[in-house]
Amino acid sequence: MLNKKVIIVTGGAGLIGKSFVSAIVDNGGIPIIADKNIENAQACCDEINKKNGTETVDVIELDITSEKSLDNSIKVISSKYGRIDALVNNAYPRNENYGKHFFEVQYEDFVENVGLNLGGYFLASQRYSAYFSKYGGGNIINIASIYGVVAPKFHIYNETKMTTPVEYAAIKSGLIHLTKYMAKYFQGKNIRVNALSPGGILDRQPEPFLSAYQKECCTKGMLNSGDMAGTLIFLLSDMSAYINGQNIIVDDGFTL
Ligand SMILES: NC(=O)c1ccc[n+]([C@@H]2O[C@H](COP(=O)([O-])OP(=O)(O)OC[C@H]3O[C@@H](n4cnc5c(N)ncnc54)[C@H](O)[C@@H]3O)[C@@H](O)[C@H]2O)c1
Repeated sequence: MLNKKVIIVTGGAGLIGKSFVSAIVDNGGIPIIADKNIENAQACCDEINKKNGTETVDVIELDITSEKSLDNSIKVISSKYGRIDALVNNAYPRNENYGKHFFEVQYEDFVENVGLNLGGYFLASQRYSAYFSKYGGGNIINIASIYGVVAPKFHIYNETKMTTPVEYAAIKSGLIHLTKYMAKYFQGKNIRVNALSPGGILDRQPEPFLSAYQKECCTKGMLNSGDMAGTLIFLLSDMSAYINGQNIIVDDGFTL
């Protein structure tokens, strides 16, 4: 499906990123784990390469909130491989106060978290699309969320300390619209921009939450990180050549 396409996966060492990287290798692409945490990125790279008996996965240290770091990643990867075909915006920067309930969120934290995440996705898209416009085109996939599409179902968090932070709603809904803005802005440049919105991903959440969440879905409920991979590969491949500015929701019907 991917025919040696060189694909940058920001936050590639994280929960979802790691599954994306494995799926890209399985489909004949060359994934570059671009993560702020270089130790985790290297460990993840070594693990996937060992499992596949290849040296296909590569790593680069990247901070999506730094123009210098982004430009350096473009320079290093494009000179090493002679091309970059796609950017998967998947990193998840947040500060130490992220995750609070609505009335506990301080203005400074709201602004910082939106800036790090939505601002970082903007900056990464801007730097990579500048490269793509110069070299004939490219493909950007923004990892958004169901909570950029619908309001949270707050009752599923009853009996737990969990919530969906208000910043997340601003970040992900903003990202879905930014996806459309960029797709249109790049008219004539052969750059596609789409979003993939996952539902909740299993990560040792407490039982009351898991069963409340499951009741809102059609079959499985919370998904595994690998359940997003098919949609990502489709969006990265030429099979989706004329899909542009869209948001594909993968959530087992949670948003219905
Ligand atoms: N986990 C879920 O349930 C879920 C659901 C829907 C959407 N998402 C979205 O999927 C994406 C990935 O989420 P995840 O759960 O795998 O996150 P995660 O926290 O497991 O991984 C995020 C990765 O991003 C890296 N990172 C943090 N700041 C960075 C920066 N400034 N520059 C580069 N890398 C940086 C981290 O080192 C980490 O490896 C996010 O956009 C998230 O909002 C997650």
